[in-house]
Amino acid sequence: MPQGVFSARAPSNIALIKYMGKKDGVMNLPENGSISMTLNSLCSVAEISLSGPANSIAFSDRVRWVSTRPQGFQELPLEVPVLDDRGVFKLVRHAEKVVKAAREIFPRFGLQCAEITSPDSREMLVFRTANTFPQASGIASSASSFAAITLATALSCARDQSLFERIWSQDSVFREQWARISRQGSGSSCRSLNGPWVMWEDERVQVLPSQMPPMAHFVLLVSDQQKKVSSSEAHARVKTSPLWENRPERVAQRLIQMKQALSEGDVRTVARIAWEESWEMHSLFHTCSEPFSYWEPGSMKVLQALDPWVNGTHRETPIVTPIVTMDAGPNVHVIVDATQRELWFDRLSPLGFKILSDRQGTGAIV
Ligand code: DP6
Repeated sequence: MPQGVFSARAPSNIALIKYMGKKDGVMNLPENGSISMTLNSLCSVAEISLSGPANSIAFSDRVRWVSTRPQGFQELPLEVPVLDDRGVFKLVRHAEKVVKAAREIFPRFGLQCAEITSPDSREMLVFRTANTFPQASGIASSASSFAAITLATALSCARDQSLFERIWSQDSVFREQWARISRQGSGSSCRSLNGPWVMWEDERVQVLPSQMPPMAHFVLLVSDQQKKVSSSEAHARVKTSPLWENRPERVAQRLIQMKQALSEGDVRTVARIAWEESWEMHSLFHTCSEPFSYWEPGSMKVLQALDPWVNGTHRETPIVTPIVTMDAGPNVHVIVDATQRELWFDRLSPLGFKILSDRQGTGAIV
């Protein structure tokens, strides 16, 4: 990598207990805790090149996003997203937040800030971002892209990149500091910096101890349509549903049960709670005052086919239950014991949808 180029790679994550509803929409503080599994190859990359003096010291004049492929990561099948003005604005605003945070966080970890963090620096930061999944795949990219942008920007703020890298890989407290900053860009991104099983409650983001077997992950691509209701909008609307009542209390119970189940490697209980959560979140969408739905006929077809496996009523009840969930979209995520990857791929293929395959991962890397 040439000098003056800083890059990071961050995976997506799939929530089993959902972040839905915000206490604070500016800081992205959730109404309830959430638990997710971090993925591996479904990921985003962010690359920053320093490119000489800008016209002014205003941060918005110092940051540019260009729609070309990052120079690194040649080994990854990358696709450059299409960002509209709002998307670019969010990126610039977030990068500015990260630079300010670096000035506060670095000294606590013995790191010195690079020149670009100085309030009167004129250094230009040129961003390139890309995803390993196509924009039209219906996979949300905000978690992985904000995590990658956070990490690449933080790296570019360090005078000594090797020291940053060492602290990043060894110090979970340092990672958690950056998870808090990433969360402010997009809430769910705070769970993508670490892995595989991550819990986020209020400001806290932590890796959960687990005796789960290594897991494989599939997404059945039921539709490649862009979402009609953004997840930010969904967070606001769900609170008008009569089913919203007592959700934080219900989720608090589920968090305790899922933590316990993960620590014991109890896949069946994890699967049961994930199933309940997925149905509950989509029921909130369907019953709020301005109801909406992400379901497509294909979503129902997949859920109906998987229901007997999840609920243990199938005549060939599997050795290990599949964990099935949907995000804010029509696609169905299926997580299975990695030793049963082929078996499940063969079971899911006849449903007739394109399948993306991944596995659990350990979080973002520089
Ligand atoms: C349904 O993190 O996309 O995927 O904080 O507004 O960026 P913002 O929302 P976002 O919400 C994700 C919601 C979800 C569930 C989850 O990942 O927990």
